[in-house]
Amino acid sequence: MIRAMVRRTGIVALLIFPFFAAIPPGKPPVVALTISGERRISLDEGWRFYKGDAKGAENTEFDDSQWGAVRLPHDWAIEGPFDPKLNPHTGALPISGTGWYRKSFLLPESARARFFTVVFDGAMSNATAWLNGQELGRRPYGYASFAFDLTPHLHFGSEANVLSVRLAPEEHSSRWYPGAGIYRNVWLDVTGPVHVAEWGTYITTPDVSDEKATVTVKTEVRNRTNKAAQVVLRASVLDESGMPVTKANSEVTAISATGSRTINTNLSLSRPQRWDMEHPYLYMLVTEVLDKNRVVDRYTTPFGIRTVAFDREKGFLLNGKRRKLHGVCLHHDLGALGAAVNRRATERQLEIMKAAGVNAVRTSHNPPSPELLEFCDRLGMVVMDEAFDMWRIPKVPNGYSKYYDEWSARDVRDMIRRDRNHPSIIMWSIGNEIPEQKTADGWKEAKRLTGFFHEEDPTRPTTSAFNEWDDAIRNHMADQVDVPGFNYKPMRYEQIMQEHPGWVIFGSETSSCVSSRGVYHLPIEKYEKDPSRQLSSYDIIAPPWAYCPDVEFTYQDKFPNVLGEFVWTGFDYIGEPTPYFDWQGNNDHDWPARSSYFGMVDLAGFPKDRYYLYQSQWTSKPMVHILPHWNWQGHEGQNIPVMAYTNAEAVELFLNGKSLGKKERFSEPVDIPVGPNVSPDKNFYTKYRLLWQVPYEPGTLKAIAYSGGKEVAAEETHTAGAPAKIVLTPDRNVIHADGDDLSFVTVRIEDKDGNLCPSADNLVHFGVTGAGEIQAVDNGNAATVEPFHADHRTAFSGLALLIVRSQNRSGKIQVVATSDGLSQSEVEIRTTPIASHNETELAHLK
Ligand code: GAL
Repeated sequence: MIRAMVRRTGIVALLIFPFFAAIPPGKPPVVALTISGERRISLDEGWRFYKGDAKGAENTEFDDSQWGAVRLPHDWAIEGPFDPKLNPHTGALPISGTGWYRKSFLLPESARARFFTVVFDGAMSNATAWLNGQELGRRPYGYASFAFDLTPHLHFGSEANVLSVRLAPEEHSSRWYPGAGIYRNVWLDVTGPVHVAEWGTYITTPDVSDEKATVTVKTEVRNRTNKAAQVVLRASVLDESGMPVTKANSEVTAISATGSRTINTNLSLSRPQRWDMEHPYLYMLVTEVLDKNRVVDRYTTPFGIRTVAFDREKGFLLNGKRRKLHGVCLHHDLGALGAAVNRRATERQLEIMKAAGVNAVRTSHNPPSPELLEFCDRLGMVVMDEAFDMWRIPKVPNGYSKYYDEWSARDVRDMIRRDRNHPSIIMWSIGNEIPEQKTADGWKEAKRLTGFFHEEDPTRPTTSAFNEWDDAIRNHMADQVDVPGFNYKPMRYEQIMQEHPGWVIFGSETSSCVSSRGVYHLPIEKYEKDPSRQLSSYDIIAPPWAYCPDVEFTYQDKFPNVLGEFVWTGFDYIGEPTPYFDWQGNNDHDWPARSSYFGMVDLAGFPKDRYYLYQSQWTSKPMVHILPHWNWQGHEGQNIPVMAYTNAEAVELFLNGKSLGKKERFSEPVDIPVGPNVSPDKNFYTKYRLLWQVPYEPGTLKAIAYSGGKEVAAEETHTAGAPAKIVLTPDRNVIHADGDDLSFVTVRIEDKDGNLCPSADNLVHFGVTGAGEIQAVDNGNAATVEPFHADHRTAFSGLALLIVRSQNRSGKIQVVATSDGLSQSEVEIRTTPIASHNETELAHLK
């Protein structure tokens, strides 16, 4: 019965999958906001959305009753469809055009004396906002967070307020998929007349020892009244359990009418817990504004206590300890969710990265979501926070260069003020592969931007990711940043360091190896296109400027004082399907390739083989991974290259129980093809993998890893029979009943004995009932135009992904997956309520 239902809904969904699921068109929702002392209220619910231009939609009386209803964060472009006429660089998705959002809300009479600020964490792009027909302002840069004062235009009582936002993202505005829409959270900050300014605290810890830390806080306090105010600032630091550990009051300070003032407070904290990679301890600063002993504002800032140093000889030091940066570059999209920010999807990405030993993230090439930084703080991953992909000289016709002169200072200062209290951030990047490297006076712009960073945050170095390294050096641009980063130039590290004895350098972007999960072509090939639009996963293919991971490992090991690397990329991302797009703009040439192959993890979050190559270098918990799969029907007797990645001392390989020999790690370098950029003879010997040539016979291939003479890890792969069943495995069986939390369900196609069928591409239908719904589906295939918003998906290399979202209620979610000829699978997920973070954190102060 369930099976029949699933089938039927599957057909309907193909035609009208519910994009505007939450609220049907009709009477506009007017939400009555409760103003109960909370400083920050989410404004994500109850928006109306229209794709297209709508004359007069900024006016209160405009009739939006026929518009769709959406909940933010929202990305209209991810709905698709993929279109061969659209730009593959941006994912062949409809990222441009005009879109309108409107939200109606009531405020109680009792709130008349309060002050209201709307905060957009990000809107893609060219945003203009109005309240009740009055223009509030605009913000072109889609990655900037921005805020507007609503107070002068608000209605109270029975008259509704209408907040309208018009976005106008342009075609050819990005080199990757930017998304489109109000794709990050929107907040309403409610304060009294005297309050801490937006992003108004700046915490530094100039002295840190095991006994004591000095915590200095600069707080900008605003007075919105027409009378001077006399305030005292009370700063309290809470530990992770919410207990106050130190407090300090400022002097009584006068703030002039409608003015603002920066007030300094110093606190001393004994036996501080350090924020570190293994122990990312977070304190909370609670700043209270006291007016005649009455608390009139309370502002919270999470922070950490750690020391950071960059040393030419010792490299990067966190709390005095040397740490090689095992970093990844991440674009901001969340795969099938598009650019729409989601807390759990962000956390999951970082958890998957951390399990490979990743300890650093570069937010390529723009300011990230606040959630990304929050989770890097919580997980102990350090961050290179990047401002721009271009300055004045464009890389794409409608890129940020159009806005650079007018907005760059503002965008940079806002980015620093928003982000500078995150302990995870260790450096600021003024830009990626900036074309001004090649100009004689590009250094002036680098100097100007670095100046903003030094003014707003003298505690962290600036960097830039240089690809034209000789130009950047010759033209003195590299001199303008504190720690120059070099993209794809490990072969030059030695020369650069020799010629610049004062410089501390690192690989700001490395490798750019490309592969498709679970796909292997024989014989092993170099950089070639394939009619399948896939790329072999022997982890050696890279475009001409790039190279396989082993090349970077070699030079990083040779020069331990190079700070480390940021791999391009941790996850596959939408857009830039190198090599499958035509640089000349003949877009349909390589259709339907539409997302990148660069990730060590595919778009769905499933690790590719390369993931384990990094894990073998960056982790110590014993592991071994072998490739390829062991289904080579028709190749019986033929040699199949089998590679093992391990962090153990040796690996012994067995085929059907027979040993094929034990190999010591690092002992038999493997010859792999590379480009002339790495070596003139195009050969490279890597010691980071083990290789056997194995005459194929079906059965079981098993690798046993040894250290100290003992077996420490093992992995086996079996020749799979015909697909027989579906197996569903949720990453979490219990999720929050908040309408936002997600369970990522892995869908495996197995034979009757439970082996993964490595080339299975069965079409699977999903039915989700109860307290949750389907958010999206994927399979990690970079060359398919199946929609992400659907209740069905084909498997790719035996796997698919179902993303289930909770509703706002506690209960059970039943998930069922069916496919022709396979036995179905069912799984249950529960949703449970959560206490508000704010309530628990501040309970001790009350
Ligand atoms: C780099 C660039 C990245 C990406 C990458 C692909 O040059 O900085 O954004 O395009 O190439 O290899």
